[in-house]
Amino acid sequence: MSELYALYQRRASVRKFKPEPLREGDLEKILFAAQRAPTDATAQMYSLLRVSDPLLRRQISSHSGRNPHIETCAEFFLILADVHRLQRLLEHRGEALGRWPRTALHFAIVDAVLAGSALATMAESLGYGIVWIGGVLNGIREISRLCGLPRGVVPVAGLCVGVPDEAPPPRPRLPRSMVLHENRYRAYEPEELEQAYAQMAPIARGGDWHELLKRYFAQGGTMEAREPAYRVFTAQQGFEPDLPAELLERLQERGLEAGSLGELIAQAHARGFRSLQFHSQGHVWIEKEPAAYRGQGAPGEALGQALLEALEQEG
Ligand SMILES: Cc1cc2nc3c(=O)[nH]c(=O)nc-3n(C[C@H](O)[C@H](O)[C@H](O)COP(=O)(O)O)c2cc1C
Repeated sequence: MSELYALYQRRASVRKFKPEPLREGDLEKILFAAQRAPTDATAQMYSLLRVSDPLLRRQISSHSGRNPHIETCAEFFLILADVHRLQRLLEHRGEALGRWPRTALHFAIVDAVLAGSALATMAESLGYGIVWIGGVLNGIREISRLCGLPRGVVPVAGLCVGVPDEAPPPRPRLPRSMVLHENRYRAYEPEELEQAYAQMAPIARGGDWHELLKRYFAQGGTMEAREPAYRVFTAQQGFEPDLPAELLERLQERGLEAGSLGELIAQAHARGFRSLQFHSQGHVWIEKEPAAYRGQGAPGEALGQALLEALEQEG
């Protein structure tokens, strides 16, 4: 049997680590694996941020929900989707990065996950424990500020690597038939959904996977709570097609935050601008009697400009 197959048979995320560093040479090996991962067009739209400063680890941990393993693992990385370096490379030779923000975020996240996954699997194959930390999204803005992430860079997750101090049993997965489709996406029958709950029951305290799914993913759950900050942050990092990041930064300095054109419109209404006129000639008027403000450009840019002018005038 292949060693990799055996590894996947026993692998499980580890959250208790011994206070020991990686063996000499192993950091190099796991970083090597990360860099050997496939990458879209060889553009390598990711970065790894190794957090070696214990204080910074504590700060990141405090913004990441209940993940004390961030502080106790031997190595902690932020896995970053990164278009900043690509932009720098292009600009260095006189070229501007094209306007493809959604696709950029898509492939940058893919590249980041592939690199992180290769790093994690190499670490596990060397006998270390790993756990991904999506909890960093709880404090995505604070963490990004602490780590000085420039525009074009978004944390995808954290990754803990260390000497395991526990050997948890492998967690169940959904039935193969539910995740594998052939030729055509198959509709799910109610019985299959029940079977999924039964199969996944062991991972939930009290044996109720539904409770767990509800807590994370249903209305009022933790994912929903993360969404507004993620939307505003990714827009500020330049990944919102309708809103220029520079403009968002200037609006934020004046206390106005938005992650989409819809949110910008809602913000304008909330600030007493009852009438917003989007003209086909590429400009916007916003009105709060007796004053009116104008912005120019595509709808998001024009509205942002008008609002910025209004905020500056209003002091
Ligand atoms: C994107 C991602 C985010 C995760 N976030 C966290 C986290 O914040 N804290 C944590 O303890 N585990 C986290 N995990 C680990 C999952 O809980 C774990 O992979 C899952 O329960 C399956 O268990 P297994 O890895 O042991 O098979 C995360 C995993 C992934 C892939």
